[in-house]
Amino acid sequence: MTEKPKNFVRHIHDPDYESQYRGKPIDHRSMICDRGRDKESLNGWWNFGIDQYDTCLRARWFEEKDTEDGRTLPVDYSFDEWEKIRVPSCWNTERERYFLYEGSAIYTRKFRYVPRGEKRVFLKFGAANYEAKVFLNREYLGFHKGGSTPFYVEVTGRLQPQNRILVVVNNTRKRTGVPCENTDWFNYGGLYRDVELIRLPAAFIKDFSVHLVPGSGFSKIRVTVTVDGADSGTAAFAIEELGIRHSITVTGGFGSAEIDARPGLWSPDNPKLYDVRLTFGEDEVRDRIGFREIRVQGADILLNGEKIYLKGISAHEESVKNGKAVSEDEIRENFRLAKEMNCNFMRLAHYPHTERAAQIADEIGLLLWEEIPVFWAIEFENEETYQDAENQLTELVLRDRNRASVIIWSVGNENADTDARYRFMSRLARRAKELDPSRLVSAACMLDHVNHVIDDRLAAELDVIGANQYYGWYQTNFDDLIRLFDNSKPAKPVIISEFGADAKPGHRGTKDEKGTEDCQLDIYRKQVDVLRRIPYVKGMSPWILYDFRCPRRLHFTQNYYNTKGLLSADKTHKKLAFDVMREFYAQI
Ligand code: GCU
Repeated sequence: MTEKPKNFVRHIHDPDYESQYRGKPIDHRSMICDRGRDKESLNGWWNFGIDQYDTCLRARWFEEKDTEDGRTLPVDYSFDEWEKIRVPSCWNTERERYFLYEGSAIYTRKFRYVPRGEKRVFLKFGAANYEAKVFLNREYLGFHKGGSTPFYVEVTGRLQPQNRILVVVNNTRKRTGVPCENTDWFNYGGLYRDVELIRLPAAFIKDFSVHLVPGSGFSKIRVTVTVDGADSGTAAFAIEELGIRHSITVTGGFGSAEIDARPGLWSPDNPKLYDVRLTFGEDEVRDRIGFREIRVQGADILLNGEKIYLKGISAHEESVKNGKAVSEDEIRENFRLAKEMNCNFMRLAHYPHTERAAQIADEIGLLLWEEIPVFWAIEFENEETYQDAENQLTELVLRDRNRASVIIWSVGNENADTDARYRFMSRLARRAKELDPSRLVSAACMLDHVNHVIDDRLAAELDVIGANQYYGWYQTNFDDLIRLFDNSKPAKPVIISEFGADAKPGHRGTKDEKGTEDCQLDIYRKQVDVLRRIPYVKGMSPWILYDFRCPRRLHFTQNYYNTKGLLSADKTHKKLAFDVMREFYAQI
């Protein structure tokens, strides 16, 4: 360590100021089961400061050192006098002047804590894009990377009657990130999902999973439980409606059981959910669980033993009004529109959407493809990047693995088929399988448009091959689409995870005029006409339900939006091609 000069002032002379915050990663290992628990919301108006130069972290404002030897110090922050911003929200849609802001911002608020006999207390953050550093009562608690998955931090023993929480959120796009610095969607920033305080007994249920045992003839369910704060004991599992009350022995903090049961099977047409209760000591968690089986047999996808065609549509997590902090109404509206299109399936692209999405899909009966943002040219050679991707995958699976609606984990989208990418994504695909053998693993692969063939090496690691293709749009010679399918002989099901075309809402013209609804309509008609005949294509999720903000789309008909939607961004205008999908899916 080079000798520091006497006039060295850390917060102005230390370029490596972030190193002091690297020691406390908050990742999937700190997740706790919070289903059915009573949680105290910390949502609301938080004080907010844009911190372009990261001065809070450099000068350690969170310590609130404003006096020294009794003398007041000049400070450059005043948390309680700052403007207020809603949590959850994206700062981009909350204030016009922050629309394009990328960098660090500080969220802080005070809150009262009144113990109610709990022994353990956790803070839960539904998501923060992209990196969050958490401080409580002047102490640094840790950082979370990953813009779309929940994270939890234990605060037992750190709470006083009056507390200050402070979170530095930084949404700067980074080459080493997941996603990296170049995507095809808008980079929102903020604490954009719920912030909650969770009170727990000394020993509690940290995680549990419930699902039909694959291949058991829908006659067995498997329950696993992980306990924190006790080594052994007995957990009680109950589904009153099925007359199930089962004790599960916990040793070494873990227990599992296979229970004979014949639950009514969940499906999009019959989204049957059961009230499930799991207790351990004083702790109790509840969830509403659907039981179904999804598997591949040759080139078929079987839901509950029946062949199924995935009649889907893709969607980003975004609304004009709320950005990525979509409301429950907006989620329900998207699902209603998908049902109006006769969909049974949605691709939630390109990152984990809010947990409310899969919970609502469970209720209304919609199958889901969920995805981590291993998008385009990730740094596949970078082990730290891999760890970030794998952590996001693990957090997603642990968050949603009790959701019947989720049938596919996707490990990425449109990544060029290099050796490094093959190693990186094969590892992710195996990790997904290891975490959850009861679901299908896929990825939206690119196709070989030189030889017109589906030949991505990653397909060997996937249960279902996702294939993005834009014949008629980016690939202008539509006849090559037929050639591609004739040239391809995949041994497993293919889902056309994207096709489509841009169309400015209401913009009419000839079918050859790019950007018109007539052109989009023509491409959809031709695509469906070909895809419906391909025996190994077992589903599709055209790109995309509605137009979305995109900094790469500057043509005058796009105006900063990707206009491949079948609806306008505010969903008030249905484009002509919407009915092509509605009518096609109605016939299946
Ligand atoms: C790609 C990508 C999408 C993108 C779309 C497009 O396939 O997966 O995120 O928006 O194409 O070009 O519009």
